[in-house]
Amino acid sequence: MNDRNKVETLHQQIDVRFDYPVHFTRGIFEPGSPVFAEALRRCGDRPPYRMLVYIDQGVLDAHPQLVQRIRKYVDGQTDLELLQEPSAVPGGERAKNGWNIVQNIMTDIGNAHLDRHNFVVAIGGGSVLDSVGFAASVVHRGVRLVRCPTTVLAQNDAGIGVKNGMDEHGMKNFVGTFAPPYAVISDFDFLDTLSDKYWTGGIAEAYKVAIIKDRELFEFLDAHAERLASRDTAAMEHVIKETARLHLDHIRNGGDPFEMGTARPLDFGHWSAHKLEVLSNYRLGHGQAVAIGIALDTCYALRLGLIDDALCNRILSAMMRTGLPVWDETLLAREGHGGHALLDGLEAFREHLGGELTITLPEGLGDRVEIHEMPHEDVLSALEDLRTRMLAMPNVPAVEERSPRVTS
Ligand SMILES: NC(=O)c1ccc[n+]([C@@H]2O[C@H](COP(=O)([O-])OP(=O)(O)OC[C@H]3O[C@@H](n4cnc5c(N)ncnc54)[C@H](O)[C@@H]3O)[C@@H](O)[C@H]2O)c1
Ligand SMILES: [Zn+2]
Repeated sequence: MNDRNKVETLHQQIDVRFDYPVHFTRGIFEPGSPVFAEALRRCGDRPPYRMLVYIDQGVLDAHPQLVQRIRKYVDGQTDLELLQEPSAVPGGERAKNGWNIVQNIMTDIGNAHLDRHNFVVAIGGGSVLDSVGFAASVVHRGVRLVRCPTTVLAQNDAGIGVKNGMDEHGMKNFVGTFAPPYAVISDFDFLDTLSDKYWTGGIAEAYKVAIIKDRELFEFLDAHAERLASRDTAAMEHVIKETARLHLDHIRNGGDPFEMGTARPLDFGHWSAHKLEVLSNYRLGHGQAVAIGIALDTCYALRLGLIDDALCNRILSAMMRTGLPVWDETLLAREGHGGHALLDGLEAFREHLGGELTITLPEGLGDRVEIHEMPHEDVLSALEDLRTRMLAMPNVPAVEERSPRVTS
């Protein structure tokens, strides 16, 4: 070997520790509630603790007094400083659609001269948390983010993890960052004003994690399906806390918090769900799409002999009794060239993670396996099987779509 081919290597290895609390409470902005102020004080910096607050428009519509309550709360704490009146962000998937909202928040953060030791507070559903969190994670390469999730799905999944993002290039979460929050504070009071679609939708993520990781949670969901559908708050609080615990546990102990590998076990049922959301033009919420995705992959697992017929029916029936759909006509949508549009979701899912296709399926109840191929004809057979089973299920009364309540 001549001198020119000599290689010298300095090996770099960095361990970074993240820790953040995930609180559950009620009345977060009531004057006597310590949790919000304490979450900011945890940094130990010299006060004041400067912040910008962003609120989901849907939350503001349902809680018209919220801005006033926040203002009063902050006024009552001498070490907190609200830099401008809380701003509204459009609710739902619109919050994540393209760069506009993210751009506006980044400009705001710049104009308010927030630095890395200051706080962006995001109050809302998973969509608003994703886009506000994304903006906060890129300005100055990361301003502290406090998430206050207000939907079931955001409290048990979207708001407690390490990801932010927005939809671009015709794909969900095409752009985004891995950036753990500074703190998460979930206030159960917000759930009272959710429409039934978003109340039940979040339970789909509980089914997802229960089926592949926790038999006991599945037993609870199955036994309390009707109570959950009729908005029993005690049952819901249990489901949210257990689901959050399982998600946090997975991120902490799963060995791949920033998803560098090809597997994403917590995305059971999601390859088709992401596609269904887009195909339905977001008529199906994330939770509804996930329930349908779980139903399809459950039928696929049955084909592979990973679960038995009784368990397959039990899963479908429990989700239906909870008020979740297991079927939507969008499953049959065709592309211009006549092929099943749904099937493109498989390749899009693979591409998002990179590397080999890796799909998680249940193995029995509470355990899982990974598979690396899903031949299209087998997916279509599972789809046909799902349709037959769904039609044979006893008629489950649909959960009526009530409009969200408005609190004073
Ligand atoms: N970052 C992650 O790790 C992660 C994980 C799972 C899902 N997600 C994302 O989360 C999003 C879905 O979030 P979601 O299910 O929370 O729905 P959402 O954020 O889309 O909100 C749904 C609707 O509920 C309204 N709303 C929110 N809170 C309310 C309240 N308390 N009362 C009345 N109305 C209220 C919103 O304005 C909106 O109209 C998807 O974009 C999904 O991709 C992200
Ligand atoms: Zn999900």
